[in-house]
Amino acid sequence: MNLEIDRDRLTEQIEELAGISDAEPPAVTRIVFSPADLRARAWLIARCEKAGLAIRQDAVGNIFARWVGSDANAAAVGTGSHIDAIPNAGKYDGVVGVLGGLEAIRALQRCGAHPKHSIELLLFTSEEPTRFGIGCLGSRLLSGTMTPDAARKLIDKDGASLEEVRRNAGYSAPLEEVKLPSGYYKAFVELHIEQGPLLEQQKVPLGIVTSIAAPASLRFTVEGAGGHAGAVLMPERRDALCAAAELILAIENAAKSSGAIDTVATVGICDVFPGAVNSIPSRVRLTLDIRDTDLSRRDAAMRAIEAARQTIAAKRQVAISEEIVNADAPAQCAPEIVEALLQACAKHGLASMKMVSRAYHDSLFMSRIAPVAMLFIPCRNGYSHRPDEYASPEDIARGALVLAETLASLAG
Ligand code: GLV
Ligand code: MN
Ligand code: MN
Repeated sequence: MNLEIDRDRLTEQIEELAGISDAEPPAVTRIVFSPADLRARAWLIARCEKAGLAIRQDAVGNIFARWVGSDANAAAVGTGSHIDAIPNAGKYDGVVGVLGGLEAIRALQRCGAHPKHSIELLLFTSEEPTRFGIGCLGSRLLSGTMTPDAARKLIDKDGASLEEVRRNAGYSAPLEEVKLPSGYYKAFVELHIEQGPLLEQQKVPLGIVTSIAAPASLRFTVEGAGGHAGAVLMPERRDALCAAAELILAIENAAKSSGAIDTVATVGICDVFPGAVNSIPSRVRLTLDIRDTDLSRRDAAMRAIEAARQTIAAKRQVAISEEIVNADAPAQCAPEIVEALLQACAKHGLASMKMVSRAYHDSLFMSRIAPVAMLFIPCRNGYSHRPDEYASPEDIARGALVLAETLASLAG
């Protein structure tokens, strides 16, 4: 089998997709079910159809593009990722796994492979939490990690429900139809940029993920008392933003003092009401993202934050309510797929190293219903979720090559 990746076409397609965006280049913004996301989906479907793949779309907009195997009834081998992008993002997060997956399939077709198991490219809906506040929406529903009832309660910041938004995007079947039957996938492999610096620092071209860290997200609402910034004297104040500031520092401290460098906590959203320079903040909404490779340590940090919440609320005489958006367990990758990836690297004489994914991915949820593993490629300086995110065409092509080899070995 003479597998060859068409590196130039893959690079061109990544550039072309980056142009379907709501941000000024080189930044990419593609929020789920925005007009840009819908255009990008149509663009991708056209390319999959050109490659002879059979398209199916489910009720939440996950797109399945299948190269039917010689045993059409056998469980499929899946690959794929996402093309939605957070505001002011780069070109490669998710996209490398989708377009690299498509190119891997095309490379297998070109070299005359006839897999027994179908190979299916999956585009997951809303891996990013930007619009509905929770990441990996598509894979949560596919794996049954989120119930359709919970999904029906999701609303965006303009008050539009997921139900309304997906229907307007043309996805109207009941969400109950999204969950995949058990055994649907024989294996699932996701190609992705590392989003961290280790591969680059260690000059290793490929990372084989053995586990994915456990993410959680919480929303806090701090309610104090508003008033005139000149007239209300300091001893009388119950400033919601000052209480929120203390809470943010307590969150930072909980992560820093967890006993391991693997605990990370970020408050990336802070909405202040009423938001006027001469008005004491009466209400603040914070969103926390907290993760760890170790579930019990992450949960211990969450308990420390919970204790701080109560102490700060009492001390500052404000109310601080908390809502857990998600608190997911980590995923262990399947040893047999890790092994298939290692062998594919070895076959092409490529060095690789085993590693942990600190970012979450749809594979975290796919691991609940199928054996999974992930393949990482380096990205410059480890940058991701920013416009200067960059992966070289050589690294991307290497990733697609190893992915193709692995899909071929898993699909028989
Ligand atoms: C995925 O985008 C993540 O935030 O890990
Ligand atoms: Mn991302
Ligand atoms: Mn991603």
